[in-house]
Amino acid sequence: MENKNQTLGEFIINNQNSFKYSSGELSRLINSIRLAAKVVNHEVNKAGLVDIIGETGKTNVQDEKQQKLDVYANNKFRNTLINRNIICGLASEEDESFISVNSIDKNNQNSYVVLIDPLDGSSNIDVNVSVGTIFSVYRRISEIGSSVTIDDFLQKGRNQVAAGYIIYGTSTMLVYTTGDGVNGFTLNPAIGSFYHSHANLKFPKKGSIYSINEGNYFQFPDYVKKYLKFCQMEEDDRPYTSRYIGSLVSDFHRNLIKGGIFMYPNTSKNPKGKLRLLYECNPISFICEQAGGLAIDGESNILDIHPETLHQRIPFYCGSEKMINQLQTFIKNSK
Ligand code: AHG
Ligand code: MN
Ligand code: MN
Repeated sequence: MENKNQTLGEFIINNQNSFKYSSGELSRLINSIRLAAKVVNHEVNKAGLVDIIGETGKTNVQDEKQQKLDVYANNKFRNTLINRNIICGLASEEDESFISVNSIDKNNQNSYVVLIDPLDGSSNIDVNVSVGTIFSVYRRISEIGSSVTIDDFLQKGRNQVAAGYIIYGTSTMLVYTTGDGVNGFTLNPAIGSFYHSHANLKFPKKGSIYSINEGNYFQFPDYVKKYLKFCQMEEDDRPYTSRYIGSLVSDFHRNLIKGGIFMYPNTSKNPKGKLRLLYECNPISFICEQAGGLAIDGESNILDIHPETLHQRIPFYCGSEKMINQLQTFIKNSK
């Protein structure tokens, strides 16, 4: 049960012991993300007021235009997590390689690595539509005190110890899990504190929203085309409603609250899918499963996939269990 008077800081302290490695290290990490989120939120809110929107003119490692706020959010999360001596390694969607904190500070004894999509949905910034931040946390597998290696980051999603997102929307929320359910906290901007607004978030049993960039229809695998027609058919509780924001965090958050399915299939333009396994799909899938939903790539459960590269992309389907199961019958029939 939520206690709406409880702040995120209090919730972290009260729940520290429910986490199996309760040394306080993970609590400090979530606290740092909370702090960086507030600073980034302030900047996102100002985007329409100051000359911060627009492109930097540079492209990131994935050949996408980087927006100024992407750079700002990336720096803010990186500096907060590294300067406060919270983690041993960091990988970001915006950076080509990972950072090993031990190569900056030889005395670093931390055990967690963080992977982050600092600003998700960046094309929505200049049109005043919700954007987000996604984070994913693993225990390192290399020895504490040594430099982190690529294998610390290329762990399957099932190994995550925490994952979450911040949605900079009509209100700003931080939603996260440490593997013991999903909790949501809403920022009171007047006071600067997150309050426990959503306890133990679960997908509603029945979902009726489907989210997909339907402009790519002719590039979709046949089973997705057939599933879309199924969603639109007048039968039983259908047609479902179509909703697509174009920011994974916002689309997922709405579907989690209202019940729905999100799809970003492989297309001829993006034959391996568009979304990134490590920074987007794994953390969202961990939250999705903790909320009673399912996440697949069309063949496997996302959380069971062994990543091969840091910036790997993958087809992505996630949401209410019943809707993913419906999609799965179309996948099976296509084989
Ligand atoms: P990012 O802004 O981090 O690059 O992510 C954008 C992603 C994701 O948030 C969203 O679901 C998807 O791209 C939208 O892609 P389309 O514009 O191709 O629909
Ligand atoms: Mn993204
Ligand atoms: Mn991004």
